[in-house]
Amino acid sequence: MSKETVLISGGAGYIGSHTTVALVEAGFDVVVIDNFSNSEPSAIEGVEKILGRKIDFMEVDTCDKEALRKVFEKYQFNTVIHFAAYKAVGESMTEPLKYYQNNLVSYMNILELMKEFGRPNILFSSSATVYGNAEVLPVTEQTPRQPATSPYGNTKQIAEDILSDCCRAYEGMWGIALRYFNPIGAHPSALIGELPRGVPNNLVPFVTQTAAGIRECLSVFGSDYDTPDGTCLRDYIDVVDLAKAHVAAVRRMTSGKMERKYEIFNVGTGSPLSVLELITRFMDVNGVDVPYKMVGRRSGDVPAVWADTTLANNTLGWKAERSIDDTLRSAWAWEKHLRGIQ
Ligand code: WQD
Repeated sequence: MSKETVLISGGAGYIGSHTTVALVEAGFDVVVIDNFSNSEPSAIEGVEKILGRKIDFMEVDTCDKEALRKVFEKYQFNTVIHFAAYKAVGESMTEPLKYYQNNLVSYMNILELMKEFGRPNILFSSSATVYGNAEVLPVTEQTPRQPATSPYGNTKQIAEDILSDCCRAYEGMWGIALRYFNPIGAHPSALIGELPRGVPNNLVPFVTQTAAGIRECLSVFGSDYDTPDGTCLRDYIDVVDLAKAHVAAVRRMTSGKMERKYEIFNVGTGSPLSVLELITRFMDVNGVDVPYKMVGRRSGDVPAVWADTTLANNTLGWKAERSIDDTLRSAWAWEKHLRGIQ
């Protein structure tokens, strides 16, 4: 029997590269496309080194529909995982059109070509950002979404709605949205990981760069929240565990197990960690110092959000497994690999 093939857009990115590895290890064939707008060819090299073989890769901008059409013409796949998107919340506030254009046009192109070529399954990268400042924690998939507070977050909500509408309207289309919490860490080989450009916006890349001496001091945004230690609570999900959630979702789609045309799953650990807990844990497990100072709140941050993962656990048969200590070790191993630190 021939293997199922999965098209992965944005497969050179942080989550895309880890998911590519996990899918191939699980026995799928992959076709990876990326335009390297926020990633590097070295990610593909890292993936191939881990797997010990070449993968099918094409440098394609998903906003270029004719270039994308060639991928659909060349390869037979039933499933698409669509990662390709911009993801900087702050930048989306100052450049909303860049976000709406890139994130929605690329997505529409994928959906239109799937319909045209009769390719049934799409897995969409959504985000816990859709929950906003939830009243009841942890959040379940039934927790009402809050109005988006950034154009980035709005593209995720709009894309979820488009998928829901398409799956309802088109008999041959099936969709899953995975709502990621806070992905962190790197592959245990330290051959792939997150590659932030410029000053990192996210906590863990800033922590690892500060430990490496690239940043002088980490700013902790807000210490007066109504949380046990005054800093924000998040659900930090290991990127390798997150990649495995994609494998479980693809299996569900390709084996005809979906109960509805469009399904949504939270992908987190179910356990909250504060910013301070994360920093001190990072220093403890890695034996490195991370100078930090408390500063004012960052605008747009919610005090706390973490996942109820019951649905993903029971329905996808998936559960986060890697310990936070191993995840934080892998984040530091990756930073050291990047900087050539022994
Ligand atoms: C985590 C906590 C910060 C940096 C965002 C997006 C989400 C997803 C992941 C995209 C917060 C604090 C951070 C720093 C700090 N999207 N922090 N000092 O904001 O929960 O989620 O990134 O890829 O959709 O909204 O993640 O890592 O930015 O922040 O104190 O230098 O760390 O205030 O409490 P966030 P984050």
